[in-house]
Formats: sequence, structure tokens, C-alpha cells
Amino acid sequence: MSGPQPRPGVLDISPYVPGDSKAQGHKEPIKLASNESSLGPSPRAIAAYRGMAERLHRYPDGASADLRAAIAKHHGLDPERIVCGNGSDELIALLTKTFAGAGDEVLFTEHAFAMYPIATLAAGAKPVVAKEKDLRTDVDALLAKVSERTRIVFLANPNNPTGSYITKDEVERLHRGLPERVLFVIDAAYAEYVTRNDYTSGMELVAKASNVVMTRTFSKIYGLAGLRLGWMYGPASVVDAINRVRGPFNVTLPAQAAGVAALADVAHVDQARTLNDHWLPWFSAEVRKLGLEAPPSVGNFVLVRFPKANGKDANAANDFLLKRGIILRKVAGYGLPDCLRVTIGLEAEMRATVEALGDFVKS
Ligand SMILES: Cc1ncc(COP(=O)(O)O)c(C=O)c1O
Repeated sequence: MSGPQPRPGVLDISPYVPGDSKAQGHKEPIKLASNESSLGPSPRAIAAYRGMAERLHRYPDGASADLRAAIAKHHGLDPERIVCGNGSDELIALLTKTFAGAGDEVLFTEHAFAMYPIATLAAGAKPVVAKEKDLRTDVDALLAKVSERTRIVFLANPNNPTGSYITKDEVERLHRGLPERVLFVIDAAYAEYVTRNDYTSGMELVAKASNVVMTRTFSKIYGLAGLRLGWMYGPASVVDAINRVRGPFNVTLPAQAAGVAALADVAHVDQARTLNDHWLPWFSAEVRKLGLEAPPSVGNFVLVRFPKANGKDANAANDFLLKRGIILRKVAGYGLPDCLRVTIGLEAEMRATVEALGDFVKS
């Protein structure tokens, strides 16, 4: 073979398959495929974004200082230990390539978020997968897979696409079981939606441990997925390493401004959470009334499990709903071929989806 060849591992990557955004014949489809907030961004974030239009000839602040200060103030954190990123995806990739390489192992669970295997293979490291129990992280199964070569453990809590979470006690037990040289990355992309009092985003663990990083995003409850904005909180040594590796202007000018404004609009976030608190249980219950399974979720999405029967399976359901202009997410790539993932949207979107699923079941 001639010509430049990518590093080993790169061609083993199955490219990330984003949720569909089009339904043929429907100009304004109901898009419930990417866990975006149907409420949209805060009006304050939109104004801040627009306010930057005349300044686009200027580079952004490479340190995202105002945004880090706003995040730190909002969550009671040390701004020096925050790094902002072009989506938390960028931070996941940076953490992986900074702390793992050829010969190293990166550990996560069976149905974990798809960026972990991608980032691992892109870094030339080896993905190692631990079994889940009932679509939930099994701490013992993860710990049993730790080897001398393990460099990173990723935990999405809650996990996408399963919607399950592990408790603060379980997170701490997992951490206690890891050697100190292993970087423990807690991906809390959906933390703002979780209303259980035994849940932790991992923030206080970062504060007291030398090997824990928490990642967060503005793509979900803040409704800014299109801007690409995420952040991480970690030990000073990890922050220092990531700041050496990241692009010098990795977060755009309008993203920094919109992020600051979005944080200040607490009422908007509360509204998004309240909507989810109502429509997630409602939707899950309606789906179960139709005889379909909907495993418990604490995020802004829920899996729906379909029978394997021909014409009644997840693929058939997906096609049926697409024809109605409703876009759900196939999750076969996550090892869940009999499920579809449904993002919790606004009332009309949820009612239309239940009605379409009902028609599908009866068809
Ligand atoms: C668990 C999890 N982590 C990270 C992300 C990536 O978010 P971002 O838009 O910040 O890159 C997602 C998005 O789907 C996610 O589900």
C-alpha cells in the first residue's frame, strides 16, 4: 500500500453516527434524536451571541477567563482548575490522548457513550469494556477489568443512552478501587437533570482526589449544542497538561459570551428541568401502557425497547415514526439493537410521539 497511513487503531474506529435531523417530506420534523433541549437556548444567551457579531475579526480569549470565572462562581469551584472546550467531546478526546497512548488501556462500560471508544482508538490505545447489569454500570465488573495497563476509566453518570446512574456511594467505591495512577473521568453531561438525592456529579470527589476529572456540557439543559461548549474540572496537574495540548483558541468568542449569559439565566434552566421532570415520567408510563419496555432514566431521554418480531422491531418503529416526521435515535451501535432512544421534548412533541408509537403497536 502506498501513501500516508494513519496510526494503528485509527481505521478500527467506527465513525460516530449522529442522530438524524431530517425526515423526508416533513419541513419541521419533531427531532428527539440528540438529547437537545426542545426549549432552546436562553434569550439571554441568544442576545450575548448576537452581541459578538461585530467582533468576529478578533480572536477569543484563549484562556476563556470570564467564562471560567462564571462557571466557578456558579458552582463554587476554583477557576484555575477549570478548562473549557469545544463541546465536552473535545475534552474527552484531549484527556484521552494526553493520558493514554499505544500499549495503554482505557476502560468503560458496555453501553457507554460512543465517544469513549472513538477517543481511545484515535489515541492509539486499547478500549476495554466491562459488562453492565440491567443496563447499569456494574462497579465490580469495572474494577475487575483494571490492569497494569489501565490509564483512564470513563464513567458517564447518568449514562447515555441507557439513562441509568450509579449513586454517590458507588462512585466513591469505584474511585477507591482504582490505583492512583489511573485517571477517573466522570462525564456528567446530564447532571442538571438528575433530581435524586443519592446522586453526585463527582464535583466534590474532584476537589479531594488527585486523579478525578468531571466533564460538563452546555449542549443539554442549556440548549447550546450548536455552539459547542463544554468544560472540565480537575486536579491542577491534569489541567496543566490539557492546557498544553489543547488548541490555543479552542472556544469561540460567541460561545464564551453565550455561556456566561446562559449560566446567569437560572430560571431558564429551572424551566427545562421542570419540563423534563413532568414529561419523562409521563412518557415512560405511556410507553409502558403500550406494552413496550422503558427502563428507568434520570436524564432527558429514555430508551424504548421493542419486540424482536419482524415488522414490530426497533427498525420498523423508527421507519414508522420517521414517516410521521418524528425522529428518534437508533442505538444498535451502542449494542442495543432492539431499542430506540427518545429525547424528552415539549408537551406536543411527547403527545405526538406516544400517539405514533400507539399506532405503530396496533398496526
Ligand atoms: C454522556 C455524554 N457525554 C458527552 C456528550 C458530548 O457533549 P458535547 O456536546 O458537550 O460535546 C454527550 C452528548 O451526547 C453525552 O451524551
